[in-house]
Amino acid sequence: MTSLTRRRVLKTAALAGVGGVGLAAMARLSGWAAAAPEPVVLKTAKIQARFMDIGQTRAMARLSGWAAAAPEPVVLKTAKIQARFMDIGQTRDVLTYGEAGMPPVLRMKKGEPFAARLVNGIDDPTTIHWHGIRVPNKMDGVPFLVQPYVYTGDHFDYAFTPPDAGTFWYHPHCNTLEQMGHGLTGVIVVENPNDPKFDAEAIVNLRDWRLGDDAQFIQQFRPRDAAKTGTYGTVRTANWLDQPQFDAPAGGLMRLRVAITDVTRIYAFRVEGGEAAVIALDGNPVPQRFAPDALLLGPGQRMELAIRMPDQEGAIVSLGDIRGTKPKVLATLRATGSSLKRDLRDLAPLEANPVPEVDLASAKHIALSLSATAENVPSDSICGTLGYSFWAINKVPWPGDTPDPTAPLAELKLGKNYVIDMENLTPQAHPMHLHGMSFKVLSSSTRQVQPVISDTYLMQPNEKVQLGFVADNPGDWLLHCHIIEHQKTGMTSYIRVV
Ligand code: C2O
Ligand code: CU
Repeated sequence: MTSLTRRRVLKTAALAGVGGVGLAAMARLSGWAAAAPEPVVLKTAKIQARFMDIGQTRAMARLSGWAAAAPEPVVLKTAKIQARFMDIGQTRDVLTYGEAGMPPVLRMKKGEPFAARLVNGIDDPTTIHWHGIRVPNKMDGVPFLVQPYVYTGDHFDYAFTPPDAGTFWYHPHCNTLEQMGHGLTGVIVVENPNDPKFDAEAIVNLRDWRLGDDAQFIQQFRPRDAAKTGTYGTVRTANWLDQPQFDAPAGGLMRLRVAITDVTRIYAFRVEGGEAAVIALDGNPVPQRFAPDALLLGPGQRMELAIRMPDQEGAIVSLGDIRGTKPKVLATLRATGSSLKRDLRDLAPLEANPVPEVDLASAKHIALSLSATAENVPSDSICGTLGYSFWAINKVPWPGDTPDPTAPLAELKLGKNYVIDMENLTPQAHPMHLHGMSFKVLSSSTRQVQPVISDTYLMQPNEKVQLGFVADNPGDWLLHCHIIEHQKTGMTSYIRVV
């Protein structure tokens, strides 16, 4: 845990001692301590305490501040279920967290501790990665690099304090193509109490399924596609449904959180029927709002839209993907009641997340090239490869999640500034994801870019881009393409921050 995070936890704990954390906190004390990467600090202190009150407060005062901050863990148990994606019948061998349906949307609060227990109920080892959340390295969910994978019947306790508000997501980092492809992708909302007020909110988890005519899974990938854009699913869903509809007050402001959790598909978003503005990308507010007019986002990326609903009751706003030859309506919003007559321009800005500002003057540059490769790498581990290598970072193909990591791409000094000069030497697009730290998009060779803060950048064919960040989170951090077939056939590496 960084000292920064730790200070934040302790501060939160102190606040919680005054505020109100329920009795539930107590039950979690031992679990939290077990999962904590650094020893629990028990510092004697002279304090004020309340012993004569009733209910929650009384229970709380007996706990130290630290313990009071430890929340009840959310139990995320992997399970094999059936679900219906096609009229013809149920699909077997669907994977989820929980007992039925889509993995739950997890709600966390910025700056408040969160805990989850992963219980593995499927016959395949697994882990959870908290995509985009700047967690301590030990909580990052990458097998071998930071934690052992979790065998069938075993569990692992995750505990961290999300420093940033926004839309994030979670997924396994072991046998990733299969496990994500079969359903293990869930959305995370980190709330900020200071957010501007919306009249409605909806969350959309976008993904496909590779099913045959009988509604059963077919082979998750074809090597010839893995060597190009990746293998697409055959059935497209939002929240595991075909075109879900959400109600929102007419004339009101709707917050639509969208996460692309698919293993392959790149989207080009457009909103029709109402005024819409992109207010955040990849968990961070955009410096300047803009209309989503064919906005390209890849696997792993998220966007938040503010949508001004039409005034007329029953009017429909649609979110569509216009990429490729078959445009698709992903979800719709329906105006209800009489108009609230709100104005998009009245919406206050979202608060910036506490991501340190990169100092370009002192920044060291790290050159990074994405290329195709013919070189073959011996597989194999349980979480490991697909048996092919088609891609490489700085000429080294590595599938990640293996017990024999290659050398890190670079060793970074804790607290120092860096710029990744990344070059895409291939004719395909690659959504490149960095674990553990958020970067600022500085420049691109092919387009005007806003200086957005992000964890995933969609590299266009032959694009060169500069991503700046402060190496403020110690540990080994993966950097990989989020088209999972690319990731698992070589386009994976990692940086070390010490
Ligand atoms: Cu969303 Cu390494 O992953
Ligand atoms: Cu890729």
